[in-house]
Amino acid sequence: MCGITGYVGPRPCVRTVIDMLRRLEYRGYDSAGVAVAGRPTAAGDTDVEVVKAAGKLAVLESQLHDHWEKQGTAIAHTRWATHGGPTTPNAHPHFSNDGRIALIHNGIIENYQELKEDLIRKGFHFTSDTDTEVLVHLVDHAFRAAGDMETAVRAALRRVTGAYSIAVVSTHDSETLYAAKTASPLILGLGVGENFLASDIPALMRYTKRVLVLEDGDFAVVTRDAVSLTTLEGKPLVREEFLVTWDEQTAEKGGYPHFMLKEIYEQPRALADTFRGRITDSESVRLTELEGFTKDQLATFTRIQIVACGTAYHAGMVAKLFFEKLLRRPVSVDVASEFRYSDPLVGPDTLCIVVSQSGETADTLAALREARRLGATILSIVNVVGSSITRESHATLYTQAGPEICVASTKAYLTQVAALYLLGLHLAGVEARLDSGLLRSYVRDLTMLPDAVEEVLGRALLVEELAARLAERKTFFYLGRGYDYAVALEAALKLKEISYLHAEAYPAGEMKHGPLALVEAGVVVVCFGTQPHLFEKMLSNLKEVSARDGLVVAVVPENEHRADSAAEYVLRIPAVRPEYAPIVAIVPMQLLAYLVAKARGREIDQPRNLAKSVTVE
Ligand code: AGP
Repeated sequence: MCGITGYVGPRPCVRTVIDMLRRLEYRGYDSAGVAVAGRPTAAGDTDVEVVKAAGKLAVLESQLHDHWEKQGTAIAHTRWATHGGPTTPNAHPHFSNDGRIALIHNGIIENYQELKEDLIRKGFHFTSDTDTEVLVHLVDHAFRAAGDMETAVRAALRRVTGAYSIAVVSTHDSETLYAAKTASPLILGLGVGENFLASDIPALMRYTKRVLVLEDGDFAVVTRDAVSLTTLEGKPLVREEFLVTWDEQTAEKGGYPHFMLKEIYEQPRALADTFRGRITDSESVRLTELEGFTKDQLATFTRIQIVACGTAYHAGMVAKLFFEKLLRRPVSVDVASEFRYSDPLVGPDTLCIVVSQSGETADTLAALREARRLGATILSIVNVVGSSITRESHATLYTQAGPEICVASTKAYLTQVAALYLLGLHLAGVEARLDSGLLRSYVRDLTMLPDAVEEVLGRALLVEELAARLAERKTFFYLGRGYDYAVALEAALKLKEISYLHAEAYPAGEMKHGPLALVEAGVVVVCFGTQPHLFEKMLSNLKEVSARDGLVVAVVPENEHRADSAAEYVLRIPAVRPEYAPIVAIVPMQLLAYLVAKARGREIDQPRNLAKSVTVE
C-alpha cells in the first residue's frame, strides 16, 4: 500500500523524507514522489517543488541531484495504483494549479468523480487520473475563500467521503505540515525542534522513538516545535505518546540478503518473545490481556468465530482444530472478505478472534466491525501495536514478532499460531476443561518449540539441496490432513507469492476427487505426515501420487520411516506434540519457497502485485 512520509525541521528535508520512505518500501508501490515547500528566496520563488517518477525509488532518486540538501518542509510518497495506472502523472504528490499546494494520500476517495466534475466546472484542470487530485484542488478552492491553509484543508476534507490519510504542504504556509486520517495508518514522530510523520513506525526509528498514533478522524497541524491534534471540526484531542522499543537494526536486514531470510531466522526468538511472561513457573498459561473477562463471561461464549486473511487465516485454521479439541465447542474460521458479506451467525454468545499481522487489513477490519455490530466480543491477535484492529477490539493479544518487512509472512505466522495456542490453553485452564497434568504437559511442550525451530533452521543445508532440485519445476501440490492441511495451505501460499510458481494445497483425501488428474512426471507433490493417527491414510495418498510419477517430498517427524521408500525426498523435522507440528513443519517450507524464489531470480521481499498491508478492499 502507499507510504507517506513528512518532515518539518532543520535537516535537509528531501534527504530525510526519502530516507524515511526507503523504510516503507516493504509496503509495495509502483511510483514515488516528493514535494518541498522551501523558504521564500531572494528570487521570490513561490511554487512547491514537486519531483515524481514511475517505478522504484531509485528512479526518483536519480532525478533529485539538485534537491538533496534543500531546506524546507517536505512530504514524500510511494504509490500503489488504485485509480489510474502506475504512471508519473498519477504519482503523488499532486499539486494545485497555481503550484503552491502539494498533497499526498493513502486510501480511496469514493465521491471523487462528482467532485472532479464540479471542480472542472469551476475552472480547475486536472493532470492525472487519480481520485487524489480532487483533494488538492478542493484545498486550493477553499484557500481562495478562507486565505488560511488550516481552514482550507479542513474544509476540503469535509467534502470527501472514503478512506484516507493525507499530508499537505504549501508555500502559503511553508513551515507547517497538515495531516489527517480516517482509515489508513498515520504516525507522528516527535523530535526536538523538528517533527516527522509516516505511515509506519520503521520510517521514524532512525530519527525518533517518540511517536503518536493518529486515530480515525484526527487532524494534525505539525510545525517544528509543536503538534496540535483536533477532530476535523476543531475539537482538541489528546493522544498518548509512546516510546518505540524496536531499535533501528531490528527493522533492517541485519546482514541477510533479504528480509525474508532474516525473518525466518528470527523465528525462535519471536516465538520465545511471544511466550515470555505468559507461561508461569507452574506450567500454566496466564494472559493478563484477558483479565478483563471473568470466568462467567468466558462461559457465555458458546461459539468461537475466527476471521482473518491469507497467512493469518491459515493460523486461524490451526486454532480451529486446537480449540475444538481442548474446549469442545464449535469454532468457525472464515476468510474476512467472505465473512463480512455473509450475514454471519454471530451474536452476544460469540467470541470473535481477529488475527492480523498489520492490524490494518481492510477486509479483516470490516469483518471485525460486522461481528461487533452483531454483538460479538472481539479479541484480536495482532503484531503492530496501536493499529486500527487493536483499537476496535475489546482486548488484544500481541504476537511480539517485531517488525515484519517482507511481504511474505513468516515470523508473524509462527507467532500468530503460538499466540493462538496460548489462548486455547488459557481458556482451557480457566474453564478447567482438561486434566491438570495433561494441561501442564501441553504447556511444557509449548516451551520447547523455540528450540525445535532452531533445530529445523540448523538443517537448512538439506533444504538447499532440495531447492536446487526443484527450482526448475513448474507445478507444486501440497497435501495434508488435519493440522497438516493448514500447513499445506500456508506452504503453497509461500511458494506462489514469492516464486510465482503454480502451487496448490489440498486435503490429501480430496486428490482422488479431481486434482489427481493433474499429477504426472515433473509435478512436485509435498506430503506432510506429522499426525500419527492419520499417517497410514497419508501414506496411501503419497503412494497414489508416486504411482503416477509425481516427485514426492515427504515432511515427517524424525522418528518416522514408513514413507522412506515411497518418497523421493524425505525432510525430517523434530518430533513435537502433533498439535504443535504446524510450527515446525512450516519452517522448511518457508526456506524452500525462499530458496526456489532466489534460484529463479525473484525479488522476494516485494513480490509483484502484492502489498504488505492490504488497506483497501
Ligand atoms: C502472507 O504471506 C501475505 N502477506 C498475506 O496473505 C497476509 O497474511 C494477509 O494479507 C493478511 O495480512 P495481515 O496479517 O496484516 O492482516
